[in-house]
Amino acid sequence: MKKIFSVALLVGCALIYGEGGNKLENGQEVCYSGQILSKYKNYLEQGTYEGFESSEWPAWREKPQSRYQTFKIAFEHFEKTNGKIVVELGTTRSFTHGGLPGCNRDWSGYWTPQNPENWDWGAGSFTRMAAECLAHTNPVIHTVDLEAAHIARCKVITQDFASIMQYHVCSSEYFLSTCDLQGKIDLLYLDTGNMTPIEPTAQLHLAEAKIIVERNLLSPQGIILIDDVRNQTPKKFGETSELGKAKYSIPYFLQHGYELVASEYQVILRKK
Ligand SMILES: C[S@@+](CC[C@H](N)C(=O)[O-])C[C@H]1O[C@@H](n2cnc3c(N)ncnc32)[C@H](O)[C@@H]1O
Repeated sequence: MKKIFSVALLVGCALIYGEGGNKLENGQEVCYSGQILSKYKNYLEQGTYEGFESSEWPAWREKPQSRYQTFKIAFEHFEKTNGKIVVELGTTRSFTHGGLPGCNRDWSGYWTPQNPENWDWGAGSFTRMAAECLAHTNPVIHTVDLEAAHIARCKVITQDFASIMQYHVCSSEYFLSTCDLQGKIDLLYLDTGNMTPIEPTAQLHLAEAKIIVERNLLSPQGIILIDDVRNQTPKKFGETSELGKAKYSIPYFLQHGYELVASEYQVILRKK
């Protein structure tokens, strides 16, 4: 069964990417979001592969493309389709990366907006990337987290973009079940939970997926971007699935009217 999903992921990827490409559409149009994101390309690439050797990627495929590539696809798609609503489950919570004082600490003095080399690239820094790269499109970005301290830090990290941000301290399931966004979410970023132990995180992602499908939260042109699908940490702790925290949610989405757009370190899905 697992092998079938692995093959399905690769086939789906090839269908939409084309050879070596990273676009949703054929046009050569350069998006402003992509230009902004390119400033952070090296940080995003290093953060994606942090702590892993090439030899640790599964033998059946090349090292997957980094968060930089899938953020670029997602942001440019949002821009080209005149997206309005972004929802992120699991917020950017740290002022610094794990190698520096201040990682996951509350003191805002650790935040260095002029020194991106200090930021928490290991976690992806999606909230800041989405705010900075998409601000010119005047979106509404909802970021959701269980922990009030994490949202408080995120408010500092995104303070220059406060006018486009909506911060929510609640569980992802509560937000998805109660929000008034049926058919309206243009970019949905799924990033709750930890990599170890993986089972509760995978179950949480399945619960989120069920609400997303049952409440039809995605807009017709919307996409779902799932972080850390091919993070190798769960495998170091005995996990056998190739899909980590998305091992239940991706099959569920594929069985409920969604298809793959990209299948890399992160996975992108859209409605068929
Ligand atoms: C990996 S971090 C998110 C990283 C962030 N998206 C980024 O790109 O920097 C995971 C976050 O999920 C939050 N979280 C865990 N379980 C949650 C739940 N059930 N509902 C909402 N947030 C949750 C944690 O508090 C944590 O801040």
